[in-house]
Amino acid sequence: MKKHRLGLIGCGWIAHFYARILPRLSDRVEVVWCADPDTLRSGEIAHRTNARSIPDYRQGLGEVDAVCVLVPHHLHRPITIDCLAAGCHVLLEKPIARTVEEADAIIAASERSGRTLMVAYPHRYRKSMRVFKDAVVGGNYGELFMLDALMDESFADYTLGWIAQRETLGGGVFFSASPHMLDVMLWIAGEPQAVSMVGTRAAAQMEGEDTAVSILKFKSGVVGTTRHTWASPRTRIWYTMNAMCQQAHITLTTQPLDDIVATGADCRWLTRITALSQTGDAELLHESDEGLDLEPEIIHFLDCLDSGQTPETDGATARKIVELVQNAYREADERGTNV
Ligand SMILES: NC(=O)c1ccc[n+]([C@@H]2O[C@H](COP(=O)([O-])OP(=O)(O)OC[C@H]3O[C@@H](n4cnc5c(N)ncnc54)[C@H](O)[C@@H]3O)[C@@H](O)[C@H]2O)c1
Repeated sequence: MKKHRLGLIGCGWIAHFYARILPRLSDRVEVVWCADPDTLRSGEIAHRTNARSIPDYRQGLGEVDAVCVLVPHHLHRPITIDCLAAGCHVLLEKPIARTVEEADAIIAASERSGRTLMVAYPHRYRKSMRVFKDAVVGGNYGELFMLDALMDESFADYTLGWIAQRETLGGGVFFSASPHMLDVMLWIAGEPQAVSMVGTRAAAQMEGEDTAVSILKFKSGVVGTTRHTWASPRTRIWYTMNAMCQQAHITLTTQPLDDIVATGADCRWLTRITALSQTGDAELLHESDEGLDLEPEIIHFLDCLDSGQTPETDGATARKIVELVQNAYREADERGTNV
């Protein structure tokens, strides 16, 4: 198997989660350089990945066959198109871009280049989420009819700089982070028929909403909700997904055991999945220390490069989420039900 030569573009918050995993995959991938105009940041991530630090990714494109693009959303389109045109495969952080038009330009560039484009939606790749999906759609608990997802995050301190501005973020929390839940819900329940959202600003540090609720109807008949806040008081509840099936209520909970803002990629976690039916006690289906673990997602990307298969979260899958979110925003703006 070919060992891939990788560049990391953007060395901020999420880059630390990559830096934690990539050295473990050294039989499959070598990180050649880490690029960030903030050279303190690129130096730190380069040190952790045993790579070189460079200020400008364009200096290094000839040395690598793949890149991870981990930059603010307004830079997704220009940087990804640059890298594809230089012949690199791209693992691009979510969401694909700020608008459907930008997403289309990125998808067209990946088609022109013949290189792989994968959008990083980590949750569906988590081992626990695979167990959850198998339980929910596997038939042992009857048919699924309702999904509910909650992300409860005390990220008020995170909503500064580019995240505070609609122009650079693309919207609010519903645009930037609720898609983590939407991606999993579409993966489980199939094609959506309708989505509506309402939003509010609780911490008041950003132009967009920091708190959003949405309701969904799927063509399969399943109904769903997402609830998301970046304005929570310090909480240990992070990600909870509930599935109502005809014979059981199945719950996945991923909780940080430390303060995730302070500990970042080193945070310790507890993930549990239980099934509660009419008879008997709650059945424990899964318990692990899995948290925001990017390893299965990065392995899927490498597998796709080696096999030529299309990633599960390809450009078209990610574009669909941008379209859903934009439509829901448009409707909320008309009604005056977002900030
Ligand atoms: N998967 C997840 O759970 C998750 C969590 C957080 C963020 N993200 C995504 O990761 C991406 C980055 O978010 P973040 O929170 O790490 O932001 P951040 O602000 O912490 O880091 C972004 C970095 O990009 C750098 N940068 C800016 N312009 C650049 C350029 N031209 N070349 C190289 N680097 C450049 C900045 O200096 C900064 O260090 C976004 O797409 C975001 O949505 C994903």
